[in-house]
Amino acid sequence: MNRQALPVRFFRAVAAGLLWGCALAGTASAHETLKLDAPKPDLAPTPPMGWNSWNKFGCNIDERIVRSQADAMAASGLKAAGYRYIVIDDCWQKSRDADGNIQADPERFPGGIQALADYVHGKGLKFGLYSDAGALTCGGRPGSAGREFQDARQYAKWGVDYLKYDWCHTGTRDAEAAYTIMAKALRESGRDIVLSICEWGTNQPARWAPKAGHLWRTTGDISDLWESKKDWPIGMVNILDLQAEQWRYSGPNQWNDPDMLEVGNGGMTTTEYESHFSLWAMLAAPLIAGNDLSRMDADTRRILTNADVIAVDQDPLGQQARRVWKEGDHEVWARPLQGGDRAVVLFNRGAAAAGIRVSWNQLDLPADLRAEVKDLWTGQVSKDVHGGVGGTVAPHGVLMLRIRQPGRGAMAGSQ
Ligand code: GLA
Repeated sequence: MNRQALPVRFFRAVAAGLLWGCALAGTASAHETLKLDAPKPDLAPTPPMGWNSWNKFGCNIDERIVRSQADAMAASGLKAAGYRYIVIDDCWQKSRDADGNIQADPERFPGGIQALADYVHGKGLKFGLYSDAGALTCGGRPGSAGREFQDARQYAKWGVDYLKYDWCHTGTRDAEAAYTIMAKALRESGRDIVLSICEWGTNQPARWAPKAGHLWRTTGDISDLWESKKDWPIGMVNILDLQAEQWRYSGPNQWNDPDMLEVGNGGMTTTEYESHFSLWAMLAAPLIAGNDLSRMDADTRRILTNADVIAVDQDPLGQQARRVWKEGDHEVWARPLQGGDRAVVLFNRGAAAAGIRVSWNQLDLPADLRAEVKDLWTGQVSKDVHGGVGGTVAPHGVLMLRIRQPGRGAMAGSQ
């Protein structure tokens, strides 16, 4: 026996005893020491795209609506544009059976979750559910606290591909530990399941969430309105402002989530929804539609399926935009894209049309560049552009541009 062995053994024994003590006492801390063994599955190399029931339907969700959204996603051009996940948010759950297995609300989901997942998969789409790290969900349904492994096994059995995991009724739980447990449970479930962390940015998620999940919310809930002057509800531009400093944490398989889209829900104008969609694409945000896909008007469909804007969101480099300039109501957001392109949004928050301009220098582009510039909303391409780009931006509107440096790769995403 060498001289180190005894103390090492002694401390191991003491540590094991302490862990046992916790386990016997039934405290959360024995669980909360769990470590992630399996690596995070590579399920979100680009930001997830899909639909979620909450923004439009809240707790008024049922299997008929979910099927209609899957039908519409497949038939409306959204699937072709890259949308994949159909996610049922809160209120699908009702109770647990005698063995503790989570049960769907039998009145709203009489066919059961498995049949619904099969239906969604049958459309070539992926299926997601919602739960919560507390005893109850935000809507007061059974949460997953203490049942993480049992629930993850159930989700895998049903064919769940995506879990949004919320943070209501969690008391004094430690967020990192709680989300790590669910991450472990999902990784051991035998199925690839995206973990969408939803603790509203209240526990510094950028510190720990990239290890556990594929995306994490950075703020409270979005509302279908342009701007709020109060703390709540939170308008679209209020959420935008809270993203400006988050860019360094985002990247493939670890996306900042500024919350789901409100495009098409009726609280903003078409111009404002174009801005919302453009800015979310600049943020490399998950593009999770939150409207009724079965009743989209032409503008909503046009916005949600704009291939050039989506290509910016889905750019494989995965670099979130930075706000490179702001003066009063006028802003410039920019992000580098794979192959040397730049995506730029000239954003006008004001009530009057405004001329906004950005120079190559501000975009970290060579001063002598003669670029090809595409307007991603009109489709117009300008060649031999030098010095910078600019134009008149409508009130509450954007000019969204893709700048290509000739000779440095193709204008990916342009059509
Ligand atoms: C929280 C989340 C929302 C939604 C609701 C459901 O507020 O942040 O996105 O999931 O709960 O109750």
